[in-house]
Amino acid sequence: MSDLDLLISNINLASMSDATAGHSLADYGSMTHTSIGIKEGKIHRLYPPGSTLPTATTHIDGNGGWLTPGLIDCHSHLVWGGNRAREFEWRLQGISYEEISRRGGGIASTVKATRDASDNELKAAAQQRLTTLMAEGVTCLEIKSGYGLSLEHEARLLRIARELGNENPLTVQTTLLAAHALPPEFSDKDSYIDEICENIIPKIAALKLADAVDVFCEGIGFSTAQCQRVFDVAKEHALAIKGHVEQLSDLKGALLVANNAGLSADHIEYLQAEDVPALKGAGTVAVLLPGAFYALKEQQLPPIAALREHRVPMAVATDLNPGTSPQASLRLAMNQACVLFGLTPQESLAGVTRDAAKALGLGHCKGQLAVGFDADMVLWDIGHPSELSYGVNLCQPREVFYLGQKR
Ligand code: NIG
Ligand code: FE
Repeated sequence: MSDLDLLISNINLASMSDATAGHSLADYGSMTHTSIGIKEGKIHRLYPPGSTLPTATTHIDGNGGWLTPGLIDCHSHLVWGGNRAREFEWRLQGISYEEISRRGGGIASTVKATRDASDNELKAAAQQRLTTLMAEGVTCLEIKSGYGLSLEHEARLLRIARELGNENPLTVQTTLLAAHALPPEFSDKDSYIDEICENIIPKIAALKLADAVDVFCEGIGFSTAQCQRVFDVAKEHALAIKGHVEQLSDLKGALLVANNAGLSADHIEYLQAEDVPALKGAGTVAVLLPGAFYALKEQQLPPIAALREHRVPMAVATDLNPGTSPQASLRLAMNQACVLFGLTPQESLAGVTRDAAKALGLGHCKGQLAVGFDADMVLWDIGHPSELSYGVNLCQPREVFYLGQKR
């Protein structure tokens, strides 16, 4: 019997381990000319150069390539019907995202197209996007609902997301985003929040369809008081908390998420520097979504300097959705995080590995190449890990390993 299930020798590791956290210019936690041993889906041991290597059922020669943790996209709206290419044309003519939303376009138009689509149509389109993400090295993906806006349709989207997780090798985490917009059946936001709190969350929780609950805290979304009601019920059902906050204005949604011990505050372009310490205190991850910033041609930058100063973990995600971030590429988001938000390539890689895992409550088991962590890994034929952020798809994974336990 072999000592290991898998041994990959002759590689350089970008471990992205916790030891590199808080350093913007450190060395990716790198270990050069090394080997890694995998047993029962976990990283069993790292072997420095010159070590005597044990036997393994499978032995791969890494050929001097780089091994990184599998990439994690911690914020996506993967399952939707239709598209919003017409709105893209309107935005190019100068009509704002908020104005289009007020005129009944935006999220509402995708809700209609999603409700009209069959399960098979939704799933096939989502599978195509998922396959594109996986080809880039994504081994873990969060999928939100939010284009159903009724118990029946939100459950349908989450069920499709769960099925995609069962039918593909990657880990899928699901998030209920019923508080995304006002559905056409309701004329007043408080009554819809009643429906979310009294019916949708309890039933979705009983069906075990969601790992977390998210809200859109914004003028065109819901107020902090309404979001607090959603969070109260989420907590009663032991669901984790996330928030779309400070995307278009400063409603203090990030403070609300932090006060509720939320996993992540997402978007945060309008977050004030003085509110950043609250995120650190609560262990809330800042999720940066440069794809939406880019597509909406936003000008307001998230407070990166303050997040760095207070050592708030910064994740980077696609926000893949048909309206504000129609990009099925986490590699592009890594590049955008550097070019648009000024992250270093090391911060950008940490943002799609270690810190993305933390944004999903999986920081203890995914996102790092460290002993005891899940063996979700990507082998790249690159000379340095900065290449992963520098260009867009100039290099592809040589091999993606989905060996870790599904979570
Ligand atoms: O993350 N901000 C709210 N939700 C999505 C956009 C949804 C849409 O426009 O369809 C976002 O940007
Ligand atoms: Fe989003």
